[in-house]
Amino acid sequence: MGANVTVNLGVEMTANSLSLWAPAKVNLYLEIVGDRPDGFHELSTIFQSIGLMDRVTVAVHSGPAKISVDCPHPLVPNDQTNLAYRAAELMVQAFPDAASRQSTIDIAIAKNTPVAAGLAGGSSNAAAVLVALNMLWELGLTHQALQDLAAKLGSDISFCVSGGTALATGRGEVLDPLPSVSDLWVVLGKYDNLSISTPWAYKRYRELFEGEYARDANTQTSRHDQVRSGAMVRLLSQLAQGSRDNLDKIRALLRNDLERAVLPDHNKIKTLRDCFQGQAPLGAMMSGSGPTVFGIAADGANAKLIQSAIRQYIPDPDLSLWTAPFIAQGVHLAPNTV
Ligand code: C5P
Repeated sequence: MGANVTVNLGVEMTANSLSLWAPAKVNLYLEIVGDRPDGFHELSTIFQSIGLMDRVTVAVHSGPAKISVDCPHPLVPNDQTNLAYRAAELMVQAFPDAASRQSTIDIAIAKNTPVAAGLAGGSSNAAAVLVALNMLWELGLTHQALQDLAAKLGSDISFCVSGGTALATGRGEVLDPLPSVSDLWVVLGKYDNLSISTPWAYKRYRELFEGEYARDANTQTSRHDQVRSGAMVRLLSQLAQGSRDNLDKIRALLRNDLERAVLPDHNKIKTLRDCFQGQAPLGAMMSGSGPTVFGIAADGANAKLIQSAIRQYIPDPDLSLWTAPFIAQGVHLAPNTV
């Protein structure tokens, strides 16, 4: 937990800070089931946390009521449009008494996760701010209460609070935790100069496929039930129990409906996805709304081999590649917290 630090600035201020890891996610399965009355899409998706993580440090102290965000990444705004800022703002509104005691909130974000990449980097930063303020202000909120707050900010922030492996329905905020799969790896690839806007990807999907949408609640529920008792969830449960007998089946079970909207307009991503599929025997696809592509690897050494094979095929310096393990946690304390 945070330590009390006295800072002499003419007035005595009590500072209290925490550093948290904010992991990225991939979607192992993303089915767009249909329409929702709120204008969003009803999803059945399987989220998986990965060990590609930002470090988010939150400091609170008594002083003027002010939120600041400091992130040196050129694509990350340091103003109230940053989801981490909005998470702090939401906590101030929800807990005015705690906020009035320590009303200066400073957020520092060290980015490792690429931005606008389909990996929930910004969402995970926002989740970290909720978790940090819960601890720093000693609010005692449960994961469920934090997830309810998170859902007000964005569709995948609730998952980022708890992380691991989970089936999500609704907008993506209704979570059904699955047994954690933690001994697989991913190889990730993203062109630095290519970003995809999530609203654009869903809008494009609607333009192309609205005719296929399930509209009534019963049909949507039965789709969710089929996914919940379907082959991907069964395989992940087997993997979580340590059985790799059917691991090679994962290739055919990966699904991301948003590929149908994004890839036809972005040949570069499609070529990258095809290259990943050629090099990763366990399968590859786009994550979320893209443009990041990921391939599944059986272990860390295999992930490195796939990464260097892809690098040989695509020597373009604009292509960044990473490897990361599946992890069983969402936001969690970083070591050396002061
Ligand atoms: O909730 P979030 O801010 O991540 O969503 C970004 C955008 O993606 C939404 O404004 C909406 O256009 C689209 N979206 C959607 N259905 C979802 C999730 C997101 O249409 N389930």
